[in-house]
Amino acid sequence: MGNFLSSITDSAQRKDDHEQEASRLWREKDDETHHIIQRCPSPSASPSPTNLDIFPKYSSNNEDRHRREEDRNGEQQVVKKRDDELKNEIRIKHYSSSHKILLVGEGDFSFSVCLAKAFGTATNMVATSLDTEETLEDKYSGSEQHIRQLRRFGCMVLHDVGVHDMLYDPVLMNMKFDRIVFNFPHAGHFPPFYETDEFLIQMHKKLLLGFFKSSSKMLNEDGEVHVSHRDDYPYNKWDIKKLANNGGLRLIEKVRFRKVDYPGYSNKRGGDIESDKEFYLGDRPYTFKFSSAANSKVNSSKLMGRRT
Ligand SMILES: C[S@@+](CC[C@H](N)C(=O)[O-])C[C@H]1O[C@@H](n2cnc3c(N)ncnc32)[C@H](O)[C@@H]1O
Repeated sequence: MGNFLSSITDSAQRKDDHEQEASRLWREKDDETHHIIQRCPSPSASPSPTNLDIFPKYSSNNEDRHRREEDRNGEQQVVKKRDDELKNEIRIKHYSSSHKILLVGEGDFSFSVCLAKAFGTATNMVATSLDTEETLEDKYSGSEQHIRQLRRFGCMVLHDVGVHDMLYDPVLMNMKFDRIVFNFPHAGHFPPFYETDEFLIQMHKKLLLGFFKSSSKMLNEDGEVHVSHRDDYPYNKWDIKKLANNGGLRLIEKVRFRKVDYPGYSNKRGGDIESDKEFYLGDRPYTFKFSSAANSKVNSSKLMGRRT
C-alpha cells in the first residue's frame, strides 16, 4: 500500500514537473520570438566584484523566495499574455491564434502558411515535416518560400520529425499543444502496389496508429488531434476511429473538409514519386477531431460525481 501511494505521489510530481517544463519551454520560445518576457537577473548568478554591493546578500531562504516570486511573475505574464491573446483572438475554421498548434507531416508547408497569414502571427505554432530541408526543396517547388514566410511570422519550423517518435524529439518532448494537425496522412507510394492492396493499407494504418499514440501524449488538457482524411473506399478501410481508440484517443466530431476554407493551401501527394502533385481528395474528405480518451474518462467520472 505504502509503495502504491508513493508511486501515485511520484507520478503526480512527475506530471507537475513535466507541466512546469512545458510552460517554461513555451515561455522561452516567446522570449526568442517576441522578447515579451524580460527575465530578472538571477539572484543566484554570482555578482561581479564591481557590483557586489548593489546585490543584496541572499540567504538560501531569500533565494527560494526570490525564485518563487520570479516563477510567479513568469506565470502571471503567461496568464496575461493568454488573456490578451484571447481578447485579440483570430479564428480560421477550427483553429485560433490563441491555440498552441503542432502541424506534422507537412508537404510544402502551405497549410501552415495559411494559418499564419490568417492569424497575422505564428509564434504559437510549430510546423514540421518528415523530410529534411534539402529533400523538401527537391520535392516541393513552394517549400522554400513557405518556410521563409513561416519563420518571418515567428513559427518554429522543424524537419526530420517522424510521427512515431516525435514524443522523444529534443525540442518537442516537453511541449504540449491545443491542436495537433496531420492533413492527409499517407505512408507513400510503392508501385506496383495499389491503394486497395492490403500491404499498403497496413502501412498507412501503422503510420496513423504511431501518430495517435504519440500525439495523445502531447495534448494539453482540452487539446484535440485533427486528421483530415478521405472517407471513401479504400481509405475508409483504414478504420481511423478504431486506430485512434487504440492510440488513446476518442472521436469527438467529424466535419466535412473544404479546401476553400484554407486559402493558399495546396495539398500534396507526398511520397517519393511526383510529390509536388495534388493529392486527390475524392468527394468525401473529412476532418476527424479526437480528444484524449483519458480526459473523457475524467470528465465522465466528474459528471457522475455531480449526479450523486
Ligand atoms: C499525402 S501527403 C500530405 C502532405 C501534407 N500534409 C498536405 O496535406 O499537403 C502525406 C504526408 O505524410 C508525411 N508522412 C509520411 N510518413 C510520415 C511519418 N512517419 N512521420 C511524419 N510524416 C509522415 C509525408 O512526408 C507527407 O508529407
